[in-house]
Amino acid sequence: MSRDLQVAHTVSEMRRVREAATATRRTIGFVPTMGYLHEGHLSLVDLARRHSDLVVLSIYVNPTQFAAGEDLAEYPRDLERDLESAGARGVDVAFVPTDQEMYPEVQSVWVEPPKQMSARLCGATRPDHFRGVLTVVAKLFGIVQPDLAVFGRKDYQQAVLIQRMVRELRLPIRIELAPIVREADGIAMSSRNAYLTDAERPAALGLSLSLRATREAFRSGERSAETLRAAARERMEAVGARVDYVEIVDPEDLSPVSEAEPGSVCAVAGWVGETRLIDNASLAGRSSLDDSGA
Ligand code: PAJ
Repeated sequence: MSRDLQVAHTVSEMRRVREAATATRRTIGFVPTMGYLHEGHLSLVDLARRHSDLVVLSIYVNPTQFAAGEDLAEYPRDLERDLESAGARGVDVAFVPTDQEMYPEVQSVWVEPPKQMSARLCGATRPDHFRGVLTVVAKLFGIVQPDLAVFGRKDYQQAVLIQRMVRELRLPIRIELAPIVREADGIAMSSRNAYLTDAERPAALGLSLSLRATREAFRSGERSAETLRAAARERMEAVGARVDYVEIVDPEDLSPVSEAEPGSVCAVAGWVGETRLIDNASLAGRSSLDDSGA
C-alpha cells in the first residue's frame, strides 16, 4: 500500500509535524535509521505503526558515531529508493536532516554512556561510537518528540544503552525492541551487507552459524561461557570470518557472565574482508535463527 509520504528536511518542519499531531491528539511512533533501508528497518516501521497514529522515520548518517578511518564516506546511501520503500510501508513522515541542521555548531555537550556498558563489545574497538549514537538519538528525540521509539535487537548493545539513557534521563518515550530480521540463509540484515562480495558471503554466514552452534550447545546442557565462546569462535573461523569478539553477557547490563543462563545473550562481531559485521542471539527461547534456512 503506497501512502502520501511527507518529507521534512529541517528541524522547524519537523516541529510543525509534532505540533499538528499534538493538536489532533495523534501519537507519534519513531524509527531512527541511517537509511539504505532493508526489511530489518521496515519491520521496525510495522511495529511503530501498530502502536501509534503517525509513523516518523529518520534517515541520517550520523558523523559523530564514526571514528576517523571508519566507513562514513562509503556508507551506502540511496535516498530515492529509501523514500519509495518508506512510503510503500506506510511511513507518514520521513525526517531527512542535513549535517547543518543536526550539528549547526561544534558539538560540545554529549550524552556519555556508562563506561562499563560502552567500553566493551563494540565499544572496545569503537571507543566514542556510543557517545555519538546516544547524543544523536537524544537530539532526534528532542526534535521529533515521539511517544514511542523502536530499535532493533540486531544492535543489541545500542538498544540496551538507549533504554538506559531514556530511563536515567527520564525521557517520556516508550522504547520497543524488535527481533532481528535475517536473510533466507541466516545472515542478519544490515546496510553494511551491501559491502560483501558473493565470494565473501559464506564467511559472513559464520556469525549466525556461530550463534546457532552456541545455542545448540546451551540447549544440550553446556553452561560454561568459556566453552560456549570457544564453540562460536571455532565456527566463525572455520568459514574464514576473523573474530573481533565473542561474548556471553547479561541481557540487562551487558556484563560478561562465566556461567550462561537462559536469557544470557551471545554477542559476536567479526571481519569479512574489509567489512565488520555484528550479530547476537539469546541463548534460550525463540530466536529468528530458528526460522532461517541456515
Ligand atoms: P541503522 O544501522 O540504520 O539501524 C536503524 C535501526 O534498524 C536500529 O534500531 C537497528 O537495530 C535496526 N536494524 C538494523 N538491522 C536490523 C535487522 N536485521 N533486524 C532488526 N532491526 C534491524 O542503528 C542505527 O542505524 C544508528 O546507530 C541510529 C540509531 C539511527 C543512530 O544514528
